[in-house]
Amino acid sequence: MEIKAPRGTRDILGEEVALWQHLEEVVRRNAHLFGYEEIRTPVFEHTELFTRGVGEETDIVQKEMYTFTDKGGRSITLRPEGTAPAVRAYLEHGFFVRNPRVRWYYLGPMFRYERPQAGRMRQFHQFGFEALGFQDPACDAEIVLLAWTIYRELGLSGLSLELNSIGCPLCKPHYVQRLREHLENHKDLLCEDCKRRLVENPLRVLDCKKEACQAVFREASFPNIQDFLCAECRRHEERLFLLLQHLGIPFVVNPRLVRGLDYYTRTVFEVKVHTLGAQDAIGGGGRYDGLARALGGPEVPGVGFAAGMERIVLLLERSGFTRKDAFRVYLAPLDEEGEKDLLILSQALHEVGIPFSLDFASKNLRYHLKRAQKMGVRFVVIAGEEERKNSGFSLKDLVSGEQILLSQEELLGRLRKERETC
Ligand code: HAM
Repeated sequence: MEIKAPRGTRDILGEEVALWQHLEEVVRRNAHLFGYEEIRTPVFEHTELFTRGVGEETDIVQKEMYTFTDKGGRSITLRPEGTAPAVRAYLEHGFFVRNPRVRWYYLGPMFRYERPQAGRMRQFHQFGFEALGFQDPACDAEIVLLAWTIYRELGLSGLSLELNSIGCPLCKPHYVQRLREHLENHKDLLCEDCKRRLVENPLRVLDCKKEACQAVFREASFPNIQDFLCAECRRHEERLFLLLQHLGIPFVVNPRLVRGLDYYTRTVFEVKVHTLGAQDAIGGGGRYDGLARALGGPEVPGVGFAAGMERIVLLLERSGFTRKDAFRVYLAPLDEEGEKDLLILSQALHEVGIPFSLDFASKNLRYHLKRAQKMGVRFVVIAGEEERKNSGFSLKDLVSGEQILLSQEELLGRLRKERETC
């Protein structure tokens, strides 16, 4: 039987690769401009990092982790997200002593055993930013600004930014208690999963997408977390809102936004695109001041954000995005000598940075012209007997149909000019 890629994974091939590379370039450039440095953590970690970091009661830990015992008997998990690993690295390398404030970014595959559908994969990719050691709400604003800047630069439209505060260890428990009471009184209306969550972690109930549960949340009497925030949390939130207003970033406050990971304190946010259907979140993040402590370290405030790259690539694809540097020449040899001449020419093209494709499969001009057309290449450089007699090459423009004989020097000059205007 033919072996296929496992369910929920896929190959990224052909023209789609250009979209990924463009996205990665935009992320890296903006990270650099905002002063974020790259970190590369392992793809697998000790399972405990996620059970303690992300939270025992979350869907990620309960249902979605790729966990196995390695040959040494250790419980290992393929990382489902990048925040807990970043904080683990921060603690492990003693940053809190020698350099407590860091700004980091990462790009890479994450793994969650979810039911695959459009925009939801088992191996998916995220880019993310984590600012550790920063307490000030200005840093929350910086993270949102960075996310927003990247989405804008990618030309994504129809974005909505939802924000909420889920309080701190001082005020959150009052809300959770009130929420539990309210849900207890409406228990019959909740789905089976939510009845269980109600006991273990009532905040998780708010993540439920089932219509019956959503109807309960919409009732006017449903407790609003915004009414329970302590003075410090309220001050933090108000400052963030003010900064975002100054930055001209539109947002809505969604008091039911709690996000699916337990490490958040105060700020949580999500960016959605309504055209994406059910999997409409293209990024999310928030503050996690208690995470370092939960992982056995000291108190280290942190705020961050991560975005799903598959979903963004889907949007780029739909917008008909093409790379600016798509300029490329096709090199068509008509005999063995022509092959040699084109190999030598390819060195000169390489030197001036003009991408080329050399095809050795045939010596037939019609074959080459068809191939070039199929590849979407406009200029074909031909090398055969005729060209050799004139110590040069033919350049064919597949758009105008024009074909001219040029010396190597003239050819390079012409191609450089064409590239600039393309
Ligand atoms: P998250 O909301 O779980 O947050 O994931 C962030 C983004 O990853 C989502 O908004 C979505 O775009 C994408 N994503 C998640 N699961 C999948 C999937 N199965 N297939 C495709 N895309 C997916 C976090 O992971 C946090 N670590 C974010 C964060 C960073 N918070 C603070 N710092």
